[in-house]
Amino acid sequence: MQNKHQHNSPRSLIYLIGFMGSGKSTLGRQLAKVLGWEFIDLDDLFEEKFRTTIPLFFKEFGETGFRDAEKATLHDTITMKNTVIAAGGGTPCYFDNMEFMNKNGVTMYLKVLPEELASRLSSSKIVRPLIQGKKGDELVAYIREKLTEREPFYNKAQIIADGTSFNLNDYLKVLEGAGITYDP
Ligand code: S3P
Repeated sequence: MQNKHQHNSPRSLIYLIGFMGSGKSTLGRQLAKVLGWEFIDLDDLFEEKFRTTIPLFFKEFGETGFRDAEKATLHDTITMKNTVIAAGGGTPCYFDNMEFMNKNGVTMYLKVLPEELASRLSSSKIVRPLIQGKKGDELVAYIREKLTEREPFYNKAQIIADGTSFNLNDYLKVLEGAGITYDP
């Protein structure tokens, strides 16, 4: 667990980042509940904004179109306060999205090993265009390759946290160190 930046003023946005299946939404919901904050899943916000589903959007506009629209959705979060936001797995890796999140909130990367991600994703019901049809060794290999590409972006997070074995109190403690205040 590292905490690279300290803030003196209270901060009111938390961006959870990490690969698909790293637990951003699950942890986000739990954190929001304890903090008494809102929880927003960026993928849901996207689908509301564009009135479609992510798989359909990919089909129609491709990944390039998706990344543009995802950036626009991310920018909508700037007006939010007291909110935990689960980013999409690719959000930090395009444009200056990582800088945007670092500037506007506390960013936390949930780090999980490829094998564990593959196992979680294999049993997930959510349709994810990038891994559709992949399973077993092919899925692990894809995750490994993508993670190598994406980790330099994920590693720009203010907090790098273990996404496997930490409990809620550990996350709260490190967030407190990053300027997130709450009444326990
Ligand atoms: C993506 C992750 C997904 C979603 C889209 C693309 C990615 O979000 O934004 O399918 O590029 O890793 P989750 O990480 O919430 O699954």
